[in-house]
Amino acid sequence: MDQTIINDAIDFVRSIFKDDFSGHDYYHTLRVYKLATRIAEQEHAEVLTVQLAALLHDVDDIKLSPQTHANKDNAVAFLKKHGVTDAMIKTVCEIIGEVSFRGTDSVVPQTIEGKCVQDADRLDAIGAIGIARTFAFGGNHNQAIHDPEIKPLLNMSASQYRNHVSTTLNHFYEKLFLLADMMNTATAKEIAKQRHEYMQGYVAEFLAEWDGVR
Ligand code: ADP
Ligand code: NI
Repeated sequence: MDQTIINDAIDFVRSIFKDDFSGHDYYHTLRVYKLATRIAEQEHAEVLTVQLAALLHDVDDIKLSPQTHANKDNAVAFLKKHGVTDAMIKTVCEIIGEVSFRGTDSVVPQTIEGKCVQDADRLDAIGAIGIARTFAFGGNHNQAIHDPEIKPLLNMSASQYRNHVSTTLNHFYEKLFLLADMMNTATAKEIAKQRHEYMQGYVAEFLAEWDGVR
């Protein structure tokens, strides 16, 4: 049963994200699923709960699916169709609700399962993959790669963060450099270290090239 529902969830996610290039694509979800599984095993969390929440974490995303966001209709319909208990559906939905980065309004998940999924989603926003996703998002939103006139805004609330018009380079200061310290689990903190350093090196190189000194 476990493997069937996981395989079906993977197919479901593929069908939902097939035309998305904004950074919430199918492979983002697949990477989060793999990382979340690895973290869950190491942290002794309940693996199936983590896997289902990881696979379904973006199917009712407010930006992609605003009409299903509030009640997580896509996730709930999928779980119901597979005979998942109401209690498990509630748990998975709670985890999904806690995952997102919302600036200073971000929440610390209540359960170890939620912590694993949030950490995996955040890990996919940093490092080499994170850099690629960030520039892809910027291009998709007609955002400048860098503009020295536009300064990064720190400590934004959820609504400020959502409505803020910035540059892609500023996004490193506004979100990506904050994430390593926001990891919940020891496993994710360890993975985050190398990704964080890699990004710092990248931004230093970017700015040196921008100024023509390298
Ligand atoms: P999630 O909901 O998975 O935390 P988001 O929807 O906030 O992610 O972002 C999806 C991807 O786009 C992430 O890699 C994120 O860092 C990047 N991104 C989000 N906002 C911006 C932005 N203003 N500029 C550049 N990249 C962004
Ligand atoms: Ni995500």
